[in-house]
Amino acid sequence: MEQTARTRKSNIILALDLPFEKPENKEKLLSKAIEILEATHPYVCAVKFNRHLTLPLGIFNGVQQLLKRVHDEGLLAIMDCKVNDMGATNQTIAQYYYAAGFDALTANPFVGWNEGLKPVFNIAHELKRGVILLTYMSHRGAGEGYGQTVLDPKTGGKTSQYIVFARKALKWNADGVVVGATYPEKIREIHEILGEKIPIYSPGIGVQGGTVKSALKTGARYLIVGRAITLSENPAETARKIRDMAKSEE
Ligand code: XMP
Repeated sequence: MEQTARTRKSNIILALDLPFEKPENKEKLLSKAIEILEATHPYVCAVKFNRHLTLPLGIFNGVQQLLKRVHDEGLLAIMDCKVNDMGATNQTIAQYYYAAGFDALTANPFVGWNEGLKPVFNIAHELKRGVILLTYMSHRGAGEGYGQTVLDPKTGGKTSQYIVFARKALKWNADGVVVGATYPEKIREIHEILGEKIPIYSPGIGVQGGTVKSALKTGARYLIVGRAITLSENPAETARKIRDMAKSEE
């Protein structure tokens, strides 16, 4: 990712999210996704897919056309599937996404390591793909889970769930963590733990209220932007502006 972002001169990741379309309109959905990708690819380093597209288009069907375009342009593809089940299921899910061509996927550390995410990390690192761990989500209710006060397994004292997850990211050798741009103070705290070893991917810019400046200033390395671009009148121009805003913070 670091190399791609350098070559592309962008640390913006396009979240290719589009509103619901009736199943009979999936060709329209695919055309719209292709149109946005064609318009914005010069300004981004990666494309993040969500179930917004994989559910209606299928990872071995319509999504293949999008993945081909992403890779032909020298971009990376992230599957935001938030893997969240028991190990054997997680492993099969990960195998399918990697087989489809995704370079990395997101996973939820709440399920733990043994018979949880260990098989996902094993398969990812065998295939030289990435696993990006959720650490503090961007939405308003994120604190109810990620912000809970828990017993610090190290000291027996109190700490926060996201601090434990940030430490797990180091221990598990994660390729990145996700921290919402809507919580810059959490980005700062998590960055203090991770340093430059594990990059912070930050969604929540624009529609959810996060800003490019505060996310980057507090330690985010990559910014994930969806609706601010995909629903804009001019996705190319919006993506370019966000890319330039991020560049000006370097
Ligand atoms: P918007 O439209 O708000 O979309 O720019 C953000 C995109 O990022 C995803 N998202 C998250 N993904 N952890 C994640 O792994 C998060 O905390 C998080 N918050 C938002 C969201 O699903 C959408 O694709």
